[in-house]
Amino acid sequence: METNGKKVRYAQVGVGGRARMYYEALCSTYTDSCELVGFCDQSQTRMDYANRMIKEKFDHEPIPTYNYLDFETMVQTEKPDVIIVTSVDRTHDEYIVKSMELGCDVVTEKPITTDERKAQRIIDAQKKTGRHIRVAFNYRYAPHHTKIRELIRDGVIGDVFSVHFEWLLNTVHGADYYRRWHRNKANSGGLLVHKATHHFDLVNFWLGTEPDTVFAFGDLNFYGKQNAEKRGVKDFYYRCHGSEAAKGDHFAIDMDNNPTLKAMYLDAEKDSGYIRDRSVFGDDISIEDTMAVLVRYKNNVMMSYSLNSYLPWEGFNVMINGSKGRIEYHAVERPYINAGGDKKNEGATKTYEIKVYPMIGEPYIVPIKKIEGGHGGGDPVMLEDLFHPGAQEDEFHRAADHVDGIKSILTGVAANKSIASGMPIKVGTLVNF
Ligand SMILES: NC(=O)c1ccc[n+]([C@@H]2O[C@H](COP(=O)([O-])OP(=O)(O)OC[C@H]3O[C@@H](n4cnc5c(N)ncnc54)[C@H](O)[C@@H]3O)[C@@H](O)[C@H]2O)c1
Repeated sequence: METNGKKVRYAQVGVGGRARMYYEALCSTYTDSCELVGFCDQSQTRMDYANRMIKEKFDHEPIPTYNYLDFETMVQTEKPDVIIVTSVDRTHDEYIVKSMELGCDVVTEKPITTDERKAQRIIDAQKKTGRHIRVAFNYRYAPHHTKIRELIRDGVIGDVFSVHFEWLLNTVHGADYYRRWHRNKANSGGLLVHKATHHFDLVNFWLGTEPDTVFAFGDLNFYGKQNAEKRGVKDFYYRCHGSEAAKGDHFAIDMDNNPTLKAMYLDAEKDSGYIRDRSVFGDDISIEDTMAVLVRYKNNVMMSYSLNSYLPWEGFNVMINGSKGRIEYHAVERPYINAGGDKKNEGATKTYEIKVYPMIGEPYIVPIKKIEGGHGGGDPVMLEDLFHPGAQEDEFHRAADHVDGIKSILTGVAANKSIASGMPIKVGTLVNF
């Protein structure tokens, strides 16, 4: 972004849990080059909370707040250069397109959007306006994920032929998707879009390729009322707050006794109607919890991928097989719930190991530099790349644009179509770049 030496002006739409990492960074570490000039959300309470936080932590002046219906007024009044989109996934395309039409660049949270029609709107609007979109793929910046890119780029296992990728979500963080808006597929695209956009982006980034054909199965086997009934559950409740049945339930959250959750969500129900603590055993869940996907990539690599969200631990196992050997990559992540604790522990990695097995020779563990911070240390490195762009040459080209963002969701979008139709899906039929 060319600013002729002036501070870059940012406004943020969607001021919930994830938003905080951005507004706190903009109001502290990056005040010399950046200025936060507007908040926009459905909930005045959540915007007021954000203003209280920046006052308490950094003695920062309050940021002007705008109701979501006044997004355009905010842009016209505050004249931001860049809009940061951290709202519910379903709304991303609306704000990305409107922002570009109003002359702004965009930084958006993942997933860039939830289906192929919305993706096409973004592609068309970007072409028409020539504005720039960054997708905040923090995982790319975690040192262990970057290391995989480096090993493959440097030919350590030769030409890659196949990948086996398993992601595990546990009954703390995994369950959280079934308490709130994510449980509705129209809001999130399901976990194959909402969550797996990270994983499918990593594979595209590691291998320098994009998906060609996708086939998938998906079921809801554990969460939801029908599944709980099959297991003989007796005590059902609608939401945790005020429920006797929720007391002592492992799958309940207690917003009354968590000051952050209370201030951001319980106290905000009056102005947004957003209920953050629904029972995960309710009967209107339209996303899956058990997913298996096969992908053929344009460079002929094939991948088997699985995602399950009710498991005893959280993390991943990735195996990458090539003409000179194999990489085995394992990580265990710390359990957390979004906005339920310290930001730097969200998605923090407890243990990880990358082991190279040369086709002929002794296996060895690859040393990795550890970085503190959320999402395996990816969050602080990504913020630096977003808010001090060009300060350091990035040999890995981790900055992702809308094309990367859309290519990452297309695997999940195609998987959703395959689950619905029982057929393999050609990804090239979904959008025109
Ligand atoms: N990269 C990551 O590691 C990561 C982690 C968590 C969340 N996220 C992403 O961040 C985004 C926000 O997630 P979250 O966990 O903060 O959710 P959240 O529910 O805490 O916050 C969402 C906010 O959007 C607001 N909102 C809802 N509808 C709106 C509308 N029409 N217009 C404007 N605002 C609206 C809500 O009031 C709320 O304040 C999501 O897209 C999610 O995928 C990314």
